[in-house]
Amino acid sequence: MQSNTTRIDPPTTQKPEDEHRIIIRGGKPLYGQVKVGGAKNAVLKMMAAALLSKETTVLRNVPNLTDVHMMAQVLRHLGAKVEVSNGEVSIDASGVNDWEAPYELVSHLRASFVVLGPLLSRFREAKVSLPGGCAIGERKIDLHERGLKILGADVRIDHGYVSASAKQLVGSRVYLDRPSNGATENIMLAAVCAEGTTIIENAAQDPEIVNLAQCVNEMGGNITGAGTYQITIEGVPFDKMHGAVVDTIPDRVEVGTFMLAVMATTGEVIIEGSNAHHLYSVISKMQEMGAEVSMYAPDVIRVKCESNRFKATDITTLPYPGFPTDLQAPFMPVMCTAEGTSIVEETIYENRFMHAAELRRMGADIVIKGNAAVIKGVDHLMGAEVKASDLRAGAALIIAGLGAEGVTEVTGLHHLDRGYDRLEDKLRSLGAEIYRK
Ligand code: EPU
Repeated sequence: MQSNTTRIDPPTTQKPEDEHRIIIRGGKPLYGQVKVGGAKNAVLKMMAAALLSKETTVLRNVPNLTDVHMMAQVLRHLGAKVEVSNGEVSIDASGVNDWEAPYELVSHLRASFVVLGPLLSRFREAKVSLPGGCAIGERKIDLHERGLKILGADVRIDHGYVSASAKQLVGSRVYLDRPSNGATENIMLAAVCAEGTTIIENAAQDPEIVNLAQCVNEMGGNITGAGTYQITIEGVPFDKMHGAVVDTIPDRVEVGTFMLAVMATTGEVIIEGSNAHHLYSVISKMQEMGAEVSMYAPDVIRVKCESNRFKATDITTLPYPGFPTDLQAPFMPVMCTAEGTSIVEETIYENRFMHAAELRRMGADIVIKGNAAVIKGVDHLMGAEVKASDLRAGAALIIAGLGAEGVTEVTGLHHLDRGYDRLEDKLRSLGAEIYRK
């Protein structure tokens, strides 16, 4: 750990990924403009959807993330030609001749489980490793399984794999017990080349689902209602599907991360390439606490904060358009120094409070009671050595470090790099004192 008076130098040597750390000297206000990238949780699913044609699909505004490279590996394993460069991914799925996604790939990237739907739609057969649990919760797949069975697939779970096959895949009405993103995506993609009409009731309404449906429609599919609780998919024969060029929507979690970084440090930042409509639940909480957040232009958000001490508030994570679980951890540092007591209720995952113990090491007063965190505001956080347990916990610790007194060192960066493209470089361009070593 560096002393709080030591100068922070930029990195000079290459180290194995696990030894890397981000070093932050807190307390620098943020000023300037920053551009966010495309949404991880949209692009990964659109890459899987590219399996639904024998032609080439090009995705634009793609962030440079390890998850994107890992998904490219999964598609290559299946026989696709995939190129990732300059913010674009090009997927030529003409040579796809395998419908099995193995454990060694899927275990690195649970999002790759979504190849199940398109493989089943195209080949009427698919075998994909079960992704397993993760640091934030059990992450079941029972709704995926039930939905595919309703479409006529025989779905079996054997030796850690889900095998699905169907002589006939026939459109039907599928009600989801909860609006799961993954289940909505897998069922929607399986239904693209099924016979007849599929209706998904209580579907996830997230903007990333809308982007995925746009992608499929550009490829010749016929999906309506994405973005509402009821999605209708009219089956189209596979040989009518074709390639497409599709733009990825902005990453709303990255936008939220920058907004919260300004709240933690003070300053004024213009966030370009964002979509405020996707973030009402978050922006309204920030405004309630006292931050100045406004829409500058249709795709530009401005955040201005003269102080980094706000009024306490409560949040409950909910399916979209409720408060997103992916911004729960990044939101917590500003609650740690708010005036009064804030309560966070996490309803999506069973175990998404691992960052609380790390924030306590920085001086936060947080008590976890079941699925709630009770946070009593303290005057300030203090720099410390902390470790990210998952992607959004990593973002939370960086936000906390930016606002804290002294130096914070964050490890566990492989989690962060799954979902943020050069986060520390973008923050440094806004005036933060932050380096990776
Ligand atoms: N669930 C079930 N049964 C199912 C499916 C889900 O019980 O069959 C439960 C899960 O166990 C979980 C909850 O429902 O507790 C939500 O799961 P969902 O299927 O909605 O999530 P997901 O598709 O696995 C995506 C994002 C997550 C994000 C959630 C919720 C991707 C790659 N991941 O996961 O993103 O938290 O939706 O919005 O799209 C992240 O980016 O950091 C991240 C974790």
